Amino acid sequence: MSPGFHLFPEQASTMAPRVDALYFYLVGISVFFSLLIFTLVIYFAIKYRRGFEEEEPPPEMRDILALEVTWIVVPLILALIAFFWGANVYYALARPPQNALEIFVVGRQWMWKFQHPDGQREINQLHVPLGRPVKLTLASEDVIHSFFIPAFRVKYDVVPGRYTTIWFEATQPGQFHLFCAEYCGTQHSGMIGQVVVLEPEQYEAWLGGELGAPRAVAGLPTSRPVPEGSLTAKGQQLFRDLGCQVCHRMEKQGIGPVLTGVFGSQVKLQSGETVTADESYVRESILNPQAKITAGFQPLMPPFQGRINEEEVMQLVAYIKSLGQTQAGNRQGAVSSTK
Ligand code: CUA
Repeated sequence: MSPGFHLFPEQASTMAPRVDALYFYLVGISVFFSLLIFTLVIYFAIKYRRGFEEEEPPPEMRDILALEVTWIVVPLILALIAFFWGANVYYALARPPQNALEIFVVGRQWMWKFQHPDGQREINQLHVPLGRPVKLTLASEDVIHSFFIPAFRVKYDVVPGRYTTIWFEATQPGQFHLFCAEYCGTQHSGMIGQVVVLEPEQYEAWLGGELGAPRAVAGLPTSRPVPEGSLTAKGQQLFRDLGCQVCHRMEKQGIGPVLTGVFGSQVKLQSGETVTADESYVRESILNPQAKITAGFQPLMPPFQGRINEEEVMQLVAYIKSLGQTQAGNRQGAVSSTK
């Protein structure tokens, strides 16, 4: 960052100029109308000030149609522009591109913990590649935090009990501030970190240097677990350790549903509803299985709430996701094997 006075953080993501443009539009309109109103107040105060006693009061004006139409239509148009523009930016922010690199984030008092798909873990520091969309899935282990990278113009609440997601694509290499933007206890101000944006080659080197070359993992719970492997491998190991495969068998129907091909599919529930098996659904089904029972099954699964932490849940989600994608032939999440 160049020295000197900055009114704004630098624009270091693809969304930053778009967010700023909308912001400037809103500020511009506010400034224009504030100045217009102040100027007219002063002008009219002088022009229509009280004169001599004998002076006639000016004639009353009423029902000027053109004026009325103008002050209804002009603000309406300006407000609608802000609405559609804002909705457009919001949709862009809310929909991560399909090819995004997926990183899991856990906020807790008072640190940010990151898990990369290849298994690398970081605390208060996040390494990301330049020029590639990065999707973050955020969870909190305790209270509400807010994940904020000013230079990328992304900020999102991290709420206990559910997943939220944001995405960004960095456009500049370098280091950028990462904040918690929601008061979360005595050391809230210390819940800060850095996002390190690396050139793609440097990022590859960083990935390799951290834990050795990443390995693709066969998505079967009976295969040998990889102790220091990818997020998926950790989830696979955990799946075994917790004994999940006793009920959730791979091919044959067990007490619980077969999980192969479940992720991303439409699941029919006992209540008659249909839900999409996304990250939030899988998470809820692990922690509180009674909430949504798959049609045709008994509510027998014990809740894992309090037995595993959010990081472990994310590992299980990554594993179940890999099973779904194997079935659907969709290798979107298997970034490690294609690099
Ligand atoms: Cu976490 Cu403030």
